[in-house]
Amino acid sequence: MEQDLSPRLKILVVDDQEANIRLVEAILAPQGYEVIPASDAERALEQVAAGPPDLILLDVMMPGMDGYEVCARLKQNERTRLIPVIVLTSLSDLEDRIRGIEAGADDFLSKPFHQAELSARVRSLLKLKQFTDELEHAEDVLCTLGLSVEAKDPYTEGHCERLALYSVAMGRSLGLGPEQLKALQRGGYLHDLGKIAIPESIINKKTALSEEEWQIMREHPVIGERICKPLKSLRLVLPIIRNHHERWDGTGYPDALKGEEIPLTARIIQMVDIYDALITARPYKPALKREQAFSIMRQEAEKGWRDPEVVEQFITLMESGAPLVGLEKGKPGWLANRTSSRLT
Ligand SMILES: [Fe+2]
Repeated sequence: MEQDLSPRLKILVVDDQEANIRLVEAILAPQGYEVIPASDAERALEQVAAGPPDLILLDVMMPGMDGYEVCARLKQNERTRLIPVIVLTSLSDLEDRIRGIEAGADDFLSKPFHQAELSARVRSLLKLKQFTDELEHAEDVLCTLGLSVEAKDPYTEGHCERLALYSVAMGRSLGLGPEQLKALQRGGYLHDLGKIAIPESIINKKTALSEEEWQIMREHPVIGERICKPLKSLRLVLPIIRNHHERWDGTGYPDALKGEEIPLTARIIQMVDIYDALITARPYKPALKREQAFSIMRQEAEKGWRDPEVVEQFITLMESGAPLVGLEKGKPGWLANRTSSRLT
C-alpha cells in the first residue's frame, strides 16, 4: 500500500529543533517520502512558494511567527489551501486544538508521538489529498471540454476566460462568499458545456434558427448539467449551467423560473454572457459600444427579462473600470456569430 503512495511524495517538516526534524526524517524517509526541513516559519513559507509539498508537518511553538499563523496563511491562500497540514504540538489541551482548527489544520499530533501514529496520519492525509487532486483533475478536464466548445467557433476565443473574470468581479461586488465565487469562475468555463452535444451546423448557423433547431439548442443547459452532475465538487456550478437562460419574468428555459427563483449566480453569468455578445464584433455587424450595450441591457430589464438590480450593479461595476481594466482590449471577434437573441 505504501509503495503506491510514498515514492517521491514531499513532506515539509517545520520545526525549530533540528533533532525533531531528524526524528521525523528517520521515520518517514525509509518509507520513501522526501523530507524537506525548515527551521522556522519564514523558511517554511519560502519552501512552499518554491514548490508546494504534498503534506506539511508543522510545529506550533517556534520563535517568531508561530505554527498557527503559518497554517492560517497557507489555508487562506488559494494556491496552498489544499496542502494537508498536521500540527505538531507538545501541548494537548483543548484550547490549543481549537486554535489549530481555527487556523485550518487538517490533523494534530501530540509530541512525543509514536512512530506508527505519525506514519498512519501521514498516509491517511496523503490519500485524502490524492482524492482531492483527482477531483481537481476531473474538474480541469471538464473545463477543458468547455474550452473545446468555445474552440468550435474561432470567433469566440477568450470568451470563457472573460466570462469567468467578469462574473467573479460581479460576484465580489455583490458580496458573494469564496465558494460562490469559485462556482462563478468554474461557471464561466462550464455554462455552455452542453453545447458539446449540439451539432456545429446549429451552433455556427449565421441565419435565424428554425423552431426545430431552437428546440435542440435549448437542450444545452440540461445536457451540461447532466455531464457535470456526477462531480459533487461542482454542485454549486450546476444551477449556473442549468439556469443561465432563465428570464426574470419566467419566460426563459429550461425551468421557466421567475425572479429570485433563478439562482443569483446564474443571473450573473447570464448578464455577463449577454454583455460579451453585445460588445463583440460579428462578421455582419461591428461591436456595439459599451454605452449602447448598457442601453440594450436596461431595455431588456424593462421588458422584464433581466434582474434590474443585477443589470444596474453590472453597469456600475463596468463604469468603475476596476477590476476589469484592459479586459475589453482583447481580440475583437470573440462571440462573433452569437447574437443577443440567441442568448435569450
Ligand atoms: Fe448557454
